[in-house]
Amino acid sequence: MCGIVGFTGELPAKDILIKGLEQLEYRGYDSAGIAVLDDKKGLMLKKKTGHVADLREAAKDMDTQGTCGIGHTRWATHGGVTEANAHPHNCGSVTLIHNGIIENYRELTVEYGLSEKLKSETDTEVVAALLDKIYEGDPIVAIRKTVKLLAGTFALCIMFSDHPDIIYCVRNVSPLVAAVFDQGTIIASDLTALIPYSRKYFVVPEYHILTMTRDSIRVEDMKGNKVTPEILTVDWDINSAQKGGYPHFMLKEIYEQPEALERTIMPRVSDGMPDFTEDGIPDEVLKGIQRVVVVACGTAMHAGMVGAKVMESRLRIPVQVEIASEFRYKDPIIDETALTIILSQSGETTDTLEAMKIAKSRGSKTISIVNVKGSTIARESDYVLYTHAGPEIAVASTKAYTVQISAMYLIAARMGFVKGILSEEETREFIKKLTGAGELIKTTLENANNIKRIANHIKMAQDVFYIGRGIDYTMSLEASLKLKEISYIHAEAYAAGELKHGTIALISENVPVIAIATDPAIYPKTISNMKEVKSRGAYVILISHDAEKPDDSVCDRHIRIPDGDPTFSVFATAAVLQLIAYYTSDARGLDVDKPRNLAKSVTVE
Ligand code: M6R
Repeated sequence: MCGIVGFTGELPAKDILIKGLEQLEYRGYDSAGIAVLDDKKGLMLKKKTGHVADLREAAKDMDTQGTCGIGHTRWATHGGVTEANAHPHNCGSVTLIHNGIIENYRELTVEYGLSEKLKSETDTEVVAALLDKIYEGDPIVAIRKTVKLLAGTFALCIMFSDHPDIIYCVRNVSPLVAAVFDQGTIIASDLTALIPYSRKYFVVPEYHILTMTRDSIRVEDMKGNKVTPEILTVDWDINSAQKGGYPHFMLKEIYEQPEALERTIMPRVSDGMPDFTEDGIPDEVLKGIQRVVVVACGTAMHAGMVGAKVMESRLRIPVQVEIASEFRYKDPIIDETALTIILSQSGETTDTLEAMKIAKSRGSKTISIVNVKGSTIARESDYVLYTHAGPEIAVASTKAYTVQISAMYLIAARMGFVKGILSEEETREFIKKLTGAGELIKTTLENANNIKRIANHIKMAQDVFYIGRGIDYTMSLEASLKLKEISYIHAEAYAAGELKHGTIALISENVPVIAIATDPAIYPKTISNMKEVKSRGAYVILISHDAEKPDDSVCDRHIRIPDGDPTFSVFATAAVLQLIAYYTSDARGLDVDKPRNLAKSVTVE
């Protein structure tokens, strides 16, 4: 959480920093700030509560051509949303920005007598004060000593007032990528802030110190040995991180799903069969295991649940889905007989990363399904299946979710085949249907206007209930998360058969109940549950196949999705549910892409 950026070079830093923060704002947006080291005027600092746009406005009076600076957009952890708590923090000759959490900041404050120096409530300012106390003229020596004392996670970019034009950086867990280009060097939490300047970049290795000057970046380990990082190339365009004519990133990302699915699925299909040769995942890993454990958070976990349903029902092997933050503290029963699949869009979610480490340490092989190249989870898992969704900027995850489902399906298909559970014909048939996922979404999106009208009705609701059975229940869980996070309407997901065991007491006149019923085998059961709520006054919206022709006694509105195998209808259903959440939030006049209290990348426990 939090977005950080640093630049030193031949161009005025102020504008580069603010533009960078605009790209990184999805990582946190309760306050923002920049610091520029100006040759003539010294350190110039500007902080503002609110969005980066507020900082841009406030920085208009910051008259500087300084070419070295750092910037930060904050998601508050320690200390409220105030200008004093916003970054950068300055103490003596040290000015720094930080992403992460310093767990022992209280102990450090006491032990090093720092309280006199502190003006904020943040853990970050303690690092600035500590560094300033330790500093005796050699930044690298001071950073080495300071880092040894820190417990927790951090990406730090540091300027020393007596070393103008230089930025020093170091990280543990929290991400940093850096690049050298013709007019300077730049560093940021992620690539979106770098690609306007360079397509070549490197991932900053943990516990290495960077010295960024105008024309080069020196990377050294903690002992001072020079290290040459691997240079990677960005394989997507800056335009994919812009709105491209859509009013919000979320809507754009919903519409990008057909292409994203194609990019994730097609490179893994060879002659109609699932194929992980390019990903380097040996068949033995899939063949030898007796069960699967799926670990993730939030939307990624919901994608894992969809995949788990399909794996269990088609392959008849046990699959258990775990919330990463619970898994890591429950002393899980896991060993080499289990394959652990980790899902994460960002590849940086702390709980997911730590859960993966536990699974690995107990002998389980790990396959991660990750969107962000070179991210920590991708690097630390035994094998990685990159989803190729392109940058997902809206905090509410959409395209990352459907590509994660498709990756789970690919694993299921290959596993079923190599284990001899699915015949070649069955596997081909499965893959053929999977390759139609994008088309299903395209067709569904043609119905957007109808969904928008329904959202207009929902926007007035206090509570919304989603119900479904089997795979549709897992879709309901994601639907209710999506609606809650961007519309702030209380929403609950229930297994349709479970409502009458308590929750039905909450159903009253006009409460919207959105039922998902795509599986013909259990369709009549869900219809009965819908009648139960409809007869108690609920406003019932049914999402089901076109072929179903429900009458007025069942629902008030019917959203049709293309007919077909329910395993693959999830893609169409997902698009409908995403649009319901999107249009409801928009109709309520909310900030769709940056919902309150949230951040895209959750790098705290
Ligand atoms: O980056 P990750 O996929 O690991 O993030 C996990 C969750 O924080 C994330 O899926 C979150 O629930 C969504 N942004 C909600 O839309």
